[in-house]
Amino acid sequence: MTPPPPTAAPAVLRTPPSAPVPPADRRTLRREARRVLLRNWTGAATVPSHGLYPHQWSWDSAFIAIGLRHLSPLRAQRELETLLGAQWGDGRIPHIVFNPAVPLDAYFPSPDFWRSSTAGADAGAPRGLETSGIVQPPVHALAALLVHRTDPALSHGRGFLARVYPRLVAWHRYLTAQRDLGGGGLAAIVHPWEPGMDNSPCWDRPLSRVEPAPPTAFRRADLDHGAAADRPTDLDYGRYVRLATDYRDRGYRDRGYGDGGTTPGKTTPATPHPAFAVEDPGVNALLIASEHALAEIATALGADPAPHRHRARALTAALLERLWDPAAGQFLCRDLVAGKLLPDRSAAGLLPLLVPGLPRTVVRALLGTARGTHFGLGTTVPLLPSYDLRGPAFDRYRYWRGPAWFNVNWLMERALRRCGETTAADALRTAALDAAAASNFAEYVDPYTAEGRGTRDFSWTAALALDLLAGPGRDRDNHHDTVLDGEGQR
Ligand code: SER
Repeated sequence: MTPPPPTAAPAVLRTPPSAPVPPADRRTLRREARRVLLRNWTGAATVPSHGLYPHQWSWDSAFIAIGLRHLSPLRAQRELETLLGAQWGDGRIPHIVFNPAVPLDAYFPSPDFWRSSTAGADAGAPRGLETSGIVQPPVHALAALLVHRTDPALSHGRGFLARVYPRLVAWHRYLTAQRDLGGGGLAAIVHPWEPGMDNSPCWDRPLSRVEPAPPTAFRRADLDHGAAADRPTDLDYGRYVRLATDYRDRGYRDRGYGDGGTTPGKTTPATPHPAFAVEDPGVNALLIASEHALAEIATALGADPAPHRHRARALTAALLERLWDPAAGQFLCRDLVAGKLLPDRSAAGLLPLLVPGLPRTVVRALLGTARGTHFGLGTTVPLLPSYDLRGPAFDRYRYWRGPAWFNVNWLMERALRRCGETTAADALRTAALDAAAASNFAEYVDPYTAEGRGTRDFSWTAALALDLLAGPGRDRDNHHDTVLDGEGQR
């Protein structure tokens, strides 16, 4: 089949609906997914990919734990515990926890760029290990709850929830207090890597204000492992480096300097984030879903869930007030520097379908947008693309500018099921499993053809395939195979 040109929006379904997959193929897929997760486990955590991402990544680990729980609930708990062990004193969970055994030049930006233990000391960065200083979306409480549910006896026996709960509470407090940069009750991101959708076209306008670091100031390691056409451009990288450098040099502070930034004789800015500060609907939807998960964790621990439910409701009201665009039929990002919504449509704007308690009109509009010409889910394409199929910046191959990602589709499958859209959820589950199998667990796929892009044997693709294989709904929470000797029970 000849694929359509990059910007074309086909009017008809390009990929025929999947035929039922024989159980033998699903068995092979399960075995291969296990192989990937066992190979990518480093003893305390899982690398997303040994080549491209050879350390521990924050939201990757949350998704990985959700799949790993089916192989070893103990290992899934450890995955999250290792990540939370690198939490900063101010509550932030860093987006990378560096493995000191990995050579510095294996990944850029390396620990000697972030210098967390020194530059982040005032913000409470841990001593004795190195991390980045930015964050990723808060999927962790949801992951902890799902991991707990898979083997409650193991969880109680190890005091898993009791240990992670205060850390998860501190993490959410960081996001809702330190990161409420717009003052409207939502968490803001201060670097395009924080929402996890690094080079989404949503960031093009805010990033255009950022003076790129010169190409001579750094060497990209990602191009040693990925095709340049699948990765962000050098210009984008220059801007990522500039923003991270400035954040580091301001001590990873998120607020003003207590004096409004006008200390006589100093040129301190009023905000440490003068160029890039954005409220993203995906990040905030995951925060709300995780706040609901915290309520359930509190209940499991005999603590009061009410403050979490209250906070989730307040966040939901703020999400609707600040990011809902009825004309677009989806949530949009708010650029806090320009003080307005950004017009670009990314899949993040549909993720609030995960959030309980949205008005029915909003849910209906979101479902219509997901299926309509901009995203074509189940009508034009089998998997939800990361960006508007009709958007001027759409690129079916390049990182977050169009390809379909497995974590976003896993979230969408969950959201559809939550909304009672069982047929659509079943179709998406099948399409995701087929794409994972056909692409050797690709990092992301062409949304039209499901052809693999990026790296292969990617951990969250394997993990989320395992989770989807465990069942079509909540029944998957109770399922684990205990394939790792001595690790399944205690
Ligand atoms: N995803 C980014 C990278 O490619 C940063 O986490 O390295």
